[in-house]
Amino acid sequence: MQALILAGGKGTRLRPLTIHTPKPVVPIVNKPFLNYQIDLLKRAGVKDITLSLSYQPGKIEEIFADGQDYDVRIHYAVEASPLGTGGAYKNAEKYLTETAIVFNGDVLTDMDLARIVAHHKERKAAATVVLVPVENVSAYGVVETDSEGRVQRFVEKPKPGETTSNTINAGCYILEPHILNYVPAGETYSFEYQIFPSILKAGEPFYSYIWNDYWLDIGKPQSYLQANYDLINDKLPVFPVYRHNPQFGNSEDAPKIDYVSVVDPSCTIKPGVEIINSVIGPNCIIEEKARIENSVVWAASRIGKEAVICNSIIGKSGIIGKSSVVDGAILGDKSSLTDYTII
Ligand code: GTP
Repeated sequence: MQALILAGGKGTRLRPLTIHTPKPVVPIVNKPFLNYQIDLLKRAGVKDITLSLSYQPGKIEEIFADGQDYDVRIHYAVEASPLGTGGAYKNAEKYLTETAIVFNGDVLTDMDLARIVAHHKERKAAATVVLVPVENVSAYGVVETDSEGRVQRFVEKPKPGETTSNTINAGCYILEPHILNYVPAGETYSFEYQIFPSILKAGEPFYSYIWNDYWLDIGKPQSYLQANYDLINDKLPVFPVYRHNPQFGNSEDAPKIDYVSVVDPSCTIKPGVEIINSVIGPNCIIEEKARIENSVVWAASRIGKEAVICNSIIGKSGIIGKSSVVDGAILGDKSSLTDYTII
């Protein structure tokens, strides 16, 4: 068993966070996102993993290197210019010699990959696409299937009345190596618009597997925040959160960190600070009486005295002036707000 993680996209919807940090390694509860996918693959016994990269590949290679620290073997297939999801798959051909799990590198899920692969093998499928049910399908790639779970049709971003299906492509596929033959080398190509329709047309055994548990595309600011909230609130028991929060006494002005928040132990947290349902990255300084709620603060940021941060993401090395109120903001790395700012 092998795996390919498609991790070369520009992550435009997560800008400005992805200007200096590629989306596959944005910190989720203080760990680069791909850690979660690599963990999930390891659980299914998959240790031969290829990362398909294009945007800022060096930053990802620097973190995962050959995979030894993660107890897996990692290969890299780097595109000179982005080839789309299908072209990226073809570009990794030399590493894909067995049945492969192909994963979009922005899906947080607790999928039981071993079970999904077993389902694929039992049906002698050439391809299996994992589906998730959603309430509103209009922003997604809908997949229609028959009563046996065979894929019938793909409808990308359907208009009202175009489909009655509520299951969407979850960005996880099990593919036999010969599927690579449907993709021309060196061309920009798409799974959704080109490879999958070709597989259907060829009459290959193409199945679906419906995943009814957790699934979230972390690629938008609100869903990025949601991923952090869900992990710290133990919504994904497969990824337990270990807290090493700084400890304080019980004096009246001691900082208060609620039960779910995660604060890196290297942070300086001053008296009177309150941290609620939030994640604070390494080496941050939180000044007296600041309040941080439902927010994620990346490494090396300084939050001024009596500042209030709510429902926001503060990029690396942010400086938030004293008594500022920041609500619903997404601030890129090195943002600096003067004292008393309100945004
Ligand atoms: P947006 O710009 O915000 O849409 O994000 P994105 O660039 O990541 O695109 P999208 O969310 O549609 O991509 C789904 C997955 O495929 C992500 O994990 C991307 O990293 C990956 N991906 C998208 N395009 C490419 C590509 O050209 N090459 C490679 N290697 N991966 C890609």
